[in-house]
Amino acid sequence: MKINLVPTFLAAAISFAAAGISYGQNPLFIPDTLSGTTIGLTVQTGSKTFFPGFTTPTFGYNGDFLGPTLLMNKGDSVTLNVTNSLNTSTTVHWHGFHVAPENDGGPHQAILPGTTWSPSFKIRNEAATYWYHPHGEGKTEIQVSKGLAGLIIIRDSAEASYALPRTYGVDDFPLILQSKAFDVLQQIAIATHEDSIMIVNGTIDPTLEVPKQVVRLRVLNGSADRTYYLGMSDNSDFHLIASDGGLLSQPIQTNRVRLSTGERAEMLIDFNAYSVGQSVNLVSYSSELPRGIIGADSVGTVTNPIGEGYYSNPLNGLDFSLVRFDVAVATNNPVVAIPSSFAPLIPMDTLAVNAHRYLHFGADTTQFGEVALVDGPFHMNNDPFEMDSINITIPLNNKEIWTLTNSTKVAHPFHIHDIQFFVLDINGTPPPPQYAGLKDVILVKPDDTLRFITQFVTFADDSVPYMYHCHLLHHEDDGMMGQFLVVNTATSVPGNTTNDFAVSLYPNPASDHISLDFGDRPVSQNYLEILDAYGRVLIEQRLAPDGKLKIEGLVAGFYFVRINGRDGIKTLKFLKQ
Ligand code: C2O
Ligand code: CU
Repeated sequence: MKINLVPTFLAAAISFAAAGISYGQNPLFIPDTLSGTTIGLTVQTGSKTFFPGFTTPTFGYNGDFLGPTLLMNKGDSVTLNVTNSLNTSTTVHWHGFHVAPENDGGPHQAILPGTTWSPSFKIRNEAATYWYHPHGEGKTEIQVSKGLAGLIIIRDSAEASYALPRTYGVDDFPLILQSKAFDVLQQIAIATHEDSIMIVNGTIDPTLEVPKQVVRLRVLNGSADRTYYLGMSDNSDFHLIASDGGLLSQPIQTNRVRLSTGERAEMLIDFNAYSVGQSVNLVSYSSELPRGIIGADSVGTVTNPIGEGYYSNPLNGLDFSLVRFDVAVATNNPVVAIPSSFAPLIPMDTLAVNAHRYLHFGADTTQFGEVALVDGPFHMNNDPFEMDSINITIPLNNKEIWTLTNSTKVAHPFHIHDIQFFVLDINGTPPPPQYAGLKDVILVKPDDTLRFITQFVTFADDSVPYMYHCHLLHHEDDGMMGQFLVVNTATSVPGNTTNDFAVSLYPNPASDHISLDFGDRPVSQNYLEILDAYGRVLIEQRLAPDGKLKIEGLVAGFYFVRINGRDGIKTLKFLKQ
């Protein structure tokens, strides 16, 4: 196999130098592991020298920055004693875990300064790579950015039956990818759009010695908002073996994997194809990311290329190195072959679905103008997050299809707590193999319609909700989040879960306004779009409490009104005179 750096990668290295950033080559930090059924985590302040001569204040779990990798076994019952020694509240969310809402670590499980939170739960997830991070109301971005994030590896007997690399730090390596913004004093900054420094496991410009054999990488995108497009600098193929919630049906041979914030990918790299002493880099081919994804050259859709309010960034649209691998001699008993298949993953069927739900990602353009389509604040169904309002109530064991639509100019990684889901289709097409496995985060690009299916099993609670939200941390903090209760229908009344809600439109034909009548259902949760005969969205807004919408500005002709409500989506046609 030929090894050469692609020219764009060299260009990236040159532009880093031009930006005045000096890149030494630093050995990749590998977080320690913690295992056992009782695990102690202390959330603490610390400091770190990212740049010579500067001390950067940080947060960490059991240390200055990031946290230990937790090793857990499916079926074990674990207790985590989380002590908050910060002078501000925090929470710890077990991202991807199927646990009861009270153990989930969302905004409702605040850990006050000086106190300890001790959730106990059984590990029910499949073997895969998960993570933990804070989730306090409005505090996720600052606390994650300052260093609060750690990896969790779940092991199980099914995964153990395959000949896969699984010796942590030897042939199985964690890679926590984070782009960061630093201010002039080299303090970690947030919400600046200037996250121009790449760190991996807290290391700037890292190198990793890898044995000449098949090596497993567990890659987490732990960034606040940047998406990566992973590939090798020589463009060679690798194998993707697991997505967020477990192994795929078989290793997928590819040379690119897109990873948005919160997502994980397990990859096998065959370093046996290289000779000892050779180097090759894991790169983000961000120049190949389509517009509209944070990390591409610009936001905006194909028809509307660069959004107003878009901030350029030295990493956007550029290919850059994440880690340099230096190939060393093989270990004893190395894994030398890529397994041909794993247990078949049977996606959930679409028979006997109990409910359809619709979430529309929009921006408040009425208040903030067009710039909001790039900068936000963004909301789901025009309903900003509120701690005390439940957006969706789901009967326990409901099998549901959720449809996500995005009319903003930015791709949003959607994450839901409690369950893993299967992507059914993206714009009517089945997902590529990379997204065909168990997922808990999925990127929804501008103008996309994405459907997933899942079942809300095991845990019901009449008062403690789970979250769903955008995993761009700034968007989450700004209210692009909602909460759902899973309730035991024997004891509670479920919310209205039918898509066939009744609504009537009058007058039709209409000249200056239309009125929508929802009978005795509340009007306030409905988000409206007026589309022309070509399906172009002309008006988007929340429906006024009187149910009336002005249409004086429309030229005569046929239009559609699409109602994205709490209970579903409905499209009606009307004639403007
Ligand atoms: Cu990784 Cu609700 O978060
Ligand atoms: Cu978002």
